[in-house]
Amino acid sequence: MKYNRVLTLKNGKKAILRNGDAPDGQEVFEVFNRCHGETDYLLTYPDENSFDPDAEAEYLAEKTKSENGIEIVAEIDGKIVGTAGISAVGSKFKVRHRAEFGVSVLREYWGLGLGRALTEACIGCAREAGYEQLELNAVLENERATSLYRDCGFVEFGRNPRGFKSRTGKYQEVVYMRLEL
Ligand SMILES: CC(C)(COP(=O)(O)OP(=O)(O)OC[C@H]1O[C@@H](n2cnc3c(N)ncnc32)[C@H](O)[C@@H]1OP(=O)(O)O)[C@@H](O)C(=O)NCCC(=O)NCCS
Repeated sequence: MKYNRVLTLKNGKKAILRNGDAPDGQEVFEVFNRCHGETDYLLTYPDENSFDPDAEAEYLAEKTKSENGIEIVAEIDGKIVGTAGISAVGSKFKVRHRAEFGVSVLREYWGLGLGRALTEACIGCAREAGYEQLELNAVLENERATSLYRDCGFVEFGRNPRGFKSRTGKYQEVVYMRLEL
């Protein structure tokens, strides 16, 4: 899928939200690893990234060609500072109406409105692709994320008290949320 939008952030700077494509592979790979190292709320630790820059480029090219998936990058002053995407839950008839959503922004750019803009962009793309339900999971204590999702209309439908086990040794309760489109 394709996407392109310019928005003005809370600090007055302009950001571009656009679908990531093959030439972004190296930078998206680096931003993924940075984002995943800056917070303990995501599933993957940077050393568990299953992609290298070439595989990331291929993934982004496939998403651009896809009719029901997208990876959107947020760019400020020509630098990628966050990503968000939607993917089909599955291709079988009974689950074809469902998509999964994920978002992350580099910590130094939090609080500027990028998380909300990326989330809203993905909701719009999910509708355009014909999905009926968008799903996500989040660590309960990640209030910045869960309050944003609630605000965008996502509703909690379950919790797993020991959903994640952090490398700190602590369990993290995982909240499942869904949005009817
Ligand atoms: C979650 C995340 C994407 C939010 O991105 P962001 O760019 O900071 O989001 P925004 O600036 O659009 O802020 C979103 C809203 O949260 C609010 N918010 C900020 N801090 C908050 C807090 N501690 N508690 C509750 N709400 C908070 C903001 O006020 C804003 O609301 P508004 O649009 O009504 O002003 C970002 O923090 C992130 O990438 N975190 C690490 C990765 C992650 O946790 N991803 C989600 C996994 S489920």
